[in-house]
Amino acid sequence: MTDTLTPVLTDNWDAERAWTMAAYEERGGYAALDKAFAMGPDAVITAVKDSGLRGRGGAGFPTGMKWGFIPQDNPRPKYLVVNADESEPGTCKDIPLMMATPHTLVEGVIVSSYAIRANTAFIYVRGEVLHVVRRLQRAVQEAYLAGHLGKNIHGSGYDLDLIVHAGAGAYICGEETALLEGLEGRRGQPRLRPPFPAVAGLYASPTVINNVESIASVPAILTEGAAWFASMGTEKSQGHGIFSLSGHITRPGQYEAPLGITLRQLIDLAGGMREGHELKFWTPGGSSTPLLTPEHLDVPLDFESVGAAGSMLGTRALQLFDETTCVVRAVLRWTEFYKHESCGKCTPCREGTWWLTQTLARLEKGQGTEEDLDLLLDQCDNILGRSFCALGDGATSPISSSIQHFRDEYLAHLTHGGCPFDPAASTAFVPAGADA
Ligand SMILES: Cc1cc2nc3c(=O)[nH]c(=O)nc-3n(C[C@H](O)[C@H](O)[C@H](O)COP(=O)(O)O)c2cc1C
Ligand code: SF4
Repeated sequence: MTDTLTPVLTDNWDAERAWTMAAYEERGGYAALDKAFAMGPDAVITAVKDSGLRGRGGAGFPTGMKWGFIPQDNPRPKYLVVNADESEPGTCKDIPLMMATPHTLVEGVIVSSYAIRANTAFIYVRGEVLHVVRRLQRAVQEAYLAGHLGKNIHGSGYDLDLIVHAGAGAYICGEETALLEGLEGRRGQPRLRPPFPAVAGLYASPTVINNVESIASVPAILTEGAAWFASMGTEKSQGHGIFSLSGHITRPGQYEAPLGITLRQLIDLAGGMREGHELKFWTPGGSSTPLLTPEHLDVPLDFESVGAAGSMLGTRALQLFDETTCVVRAVLRWTEFYKHESCGKCTPCREGTWWLTQTLARLEKGQGTEEDLDLLLDQCDNILGRSFCALGDGATSPISSSIQHFRDEYLAHLTHGGCPFDPAASTAFVPAGADA
């Protein structure tokens, strides 16, 4: 069973002091740099295109194609910005990656910046994770001291400065244009597109914004080859990815596998659902991806198949809930999050997320009526596709999908006059080995 896993990014996470430059170089780290310099920037872009790598931040846009959009005839400086905000509920892959092996990301930044001809790059980290900020800062310092960053890197004539920037802590700052606003020192709110960041991004200059995992995947693509990467996964969703299992599972954690693996396989690898319990519902890619149920256990976890099943692959944040969980309560929690994180720029999301929580809270307490379900769907309708950015759309996903799959459970709250579940039962779970 274990050969289903393809540890590449996670391969050295358990090495002795894996986060240090010495440990990283011992395993061949920074070898991709010389390879990139020998190839030249255009060939690096071609290799990333050929690998089939698609953005690992949620939307799955082809990474090499995004790099190709940078207008090289534009005289302004080019920038690479790594999106390390990672604030979506359930999403928890980039932070462990940066803690375990920050140099994988730093090396990826250098190769990627070289490819798009950027001489300044930023890693925008979520402000609350000070331990990650410190780890990255130290890794960057080590890379400067070793000559991997700064002037004339490895004698190639290429210069790069890398700045670690801590955000102030807002989910919306993970949205790429709000992130740019934050990086420029303004309030984090999305920008109108066009112009797209590739044309006018940071400081109105051509900018590539990529997720941590996307950029960290680049060194291995260069050292192992585009064909090696493309040989994993499915026809249109190639390569490996980190699947983050959390919730009512025996061994929660990060499982790196080819795209297209199924949740059933992952649950087996993780020791099954907690003993004596069964899967009730799950998110394939964080709280803004529509909920799925046990009937979707064999859906290949790739962009196309999850889309065809009515959800989105998102960030592969697999949150698993067993039969002790009240779906209405879980959805209310997520909706409160979206209400809190709505940046307030547009009316459908600012007002709509407030109304959603009011209606849901009423239902959860068993005080609503059956018409409230239609009201909820109507409220979702007024947000989905009418909001300025995808935060508003995402807020509606758990609601509409839970009503689709669990309408009876909503109604049970009304007939029961409150929540028919004991919420304490869903939090009493202790993962195996946690008390050792
Ligand atoms: C509300 C919101 C939050 C987001 N948060 C993140 C995030 O924390 N990290 C991330 O990489 N992408 C996040 N995204 C997606 C980014 O806007 C963007 O698509 C991504 O960084 C592009 O990188 P990729 O092509 O490598 O996936 C978010 C989008 C939205 C709408
Ligand atoms: S959808 Fe929400 S988060 Fe996005 S711009 Fe509108 S108010 Fe802000």
